[in-house]
Amino acid sequence: MHEPLWGTDEAGESVADSKRVVVLASGNGSNLQALLDAAAGPGAGMAVVLVVSDRPDAYALERGKQAGVDTAVVRPADHPDRQTFDRALRDLVAATRPDAVCLAGFMRILGPEFVRAFPDRIVNTHPSLLPAFRGAHAVRDALAYGVRVTGCTVHLVDEEVDHGPVLFQAAVPVEDGDDEASLHERIKREEHRLLPLAVGLVASGRVRTDGRRAWLTAEVPR
Ligand code: GRF
Repeated sequence: MHEPLWGTDEAGESVADSKRVVVLASGNGSNLQALLDAAAGPGAGMAVVLVVSDRPDAYALERGKQAGVDTAVVRPADHPDRQTFDRALRDLVAATRPDAVCLAGFMRILGPEFVRAFPDRIVNTHPSLLPAFRGAHAVRDALAYGVRVTGCTVHLVDEEVDHGPVLFQAAVPVEDGDDEASLHERIKREEHRLLPLAVGLVASGRVRTDGRRAWLTAEVPR
């Protein structure tokens, strides 16, 4: 038997005992919200300690503030090159001693110096069934291709974009009359379910990798 990650108050953990999660987000932050809500649940065992955005106008920052979480903005435009931006972001995140780093709609490619600082600790969510439709327009590209099923992939981040070991995937059927917004909305519902679960598992050290394969060492609710 495996102990549940949350959903029980038997654990009696204080915030100080919680696993520390940093979230990077560029936009609306509905996935951040799902994490904040999960972390607020009894016995969650994780706390979002910092929300970072590359965009000062990201609504994700507002969501962080409303939840009482520290927020920060690191703008590429304030750095002479990508490597300096990466280092600034890495140092800011590393200073919080995170157990997991979550990319929740973070629309920048992270360089090797960032990725290497948090090996097998960075989780991304992507709105397609990888390896199909990598890149920034996955939902649009899936619709344009005419697929009948797409979905989301929650995966560990490596040095290639939308590429690391898969933690969870969920299929979402394309419906007649779907446009990018309606399909993305249904995909997000799956992301909101799976991302907090994956982040909780990574933060608590329950994920092992062997090449591309990730092994989850806890029971997963269906
Ligand atoms: C998500 O669908 C994520 O997969 C993609 O961007 C979207 C972010 O949505 N990379 P939100 O900002 O969390 O609402």
